[in-house]
Amino acid sequence: MKVIGVVSQKGGVGKTTVALNLAYALARRGQRVLLADTDPQGGVGLSLQRLQPGPGFAGYVARKLPLESVVVKTRLPEFDVLPMGNIAIQDTHALAARLVDGAELRRLVSDAGPRYGILVLDTPSGFTGVTLGAMRVSTAVVSPLQAEPLAMRSASQLLEVLAALRAEGATLTLGGFLLTMLDLHNADSLGVAMEAWSDLPNAVVFQTTIPRDPLFLRASGAGVPVGLLSHQPPPVAALFEQAAMELEARIGLAKDEKDDGPIPLFA
Ligand SMILES: Nc1ncnc2c1ncn2[C@@H]1O[C@H](COP(=O)(O)OP(=O)(O)OP(=O)(O)O)[C@@H](O)[C@H]1O
Ligand SMILES: [Mg+2]
Repeated sequence: MKVIGVVSQKGGVGKTTVALNLAYALARRGQRVLLADTDPQGGVGLSLQRLQPGPGFAGYVARKLPLESVVVKTRLPEFDVLPMGNIAIQDTHALAARLVDGAELRRLVSDAGPRYGILVLDTPSGFTGVTLGAMRVSTAVVSPLQAEPLAMRSASQLLEVLAALRAEGATLTLGGFLLTMLDLHNADSLGVAMEAWSDLPNAVVFQTTIPRDPLFLRASGAGVPVGLLSHQPPPVAALFEQAAMELEARIGLAKDEKDDGPIPLFA
């Protein structure tokens, strides 16, 4: 099983949106996916408003509940969700403390391993605490790069943290930076994208970019991935399918990785 940590130094850059929509797109592509929320603020649960309240990941950690009793199934057989679940505000600190050393996250990885091909971890912002624990158990990290000033500073911080984790013996790789909330009509936003393309190696930036689009607000209001906003999914949903395809190739899950040349158009 591949574990994808969705991480960023800054808050509000689109981690939960990327984690949810990428996980859904991977499942649509036939991968067996569990999306788990490790953020004590419960971003995934907030984005999926019709999710029934339950013990969730908090119950899994605090009460040692079995994984299958806390996972919520979706209408897509390949896609399950583990929301943060019911947790009192005063208990979030204690829960976060239990996640830092990574033991509970390692238990999640070993319980999920036999059933899923990909575990997507949504994380709190910052490269400390729970997020560091999540990075330690990740195969690869994906970092949304919000196309706004300061994004590049966050990117270099992530590269430093990855280097430090690798020096400790972690084997995680950089799945890539995914430019998001890109506004092609705004010079500052475009400037950040140009900087990312010129300053970061091509191999670490997704070719796919996600635009700033009010449909994401509508989707989180409706409590669904953007691909489920209507029976005819909006074009931005296809961008997540494309990002999912790129990610599969980056983490070694592409079905046919070898370039065997052009396929004839005519019989
Ligand atoms: N591409 C986009 N276009 C427009 N709005 C977006 C886009 N991506 C995310 N948003 C909106 O931006 C807000 C922040 O996104 P999100 O919650 O995914 O960020 P986050 O990094 O998970 O935040 P936090 O650090 O608080 O967990 C949300 O209201 C979300 O709907
Ligand atoms: Mg979030």
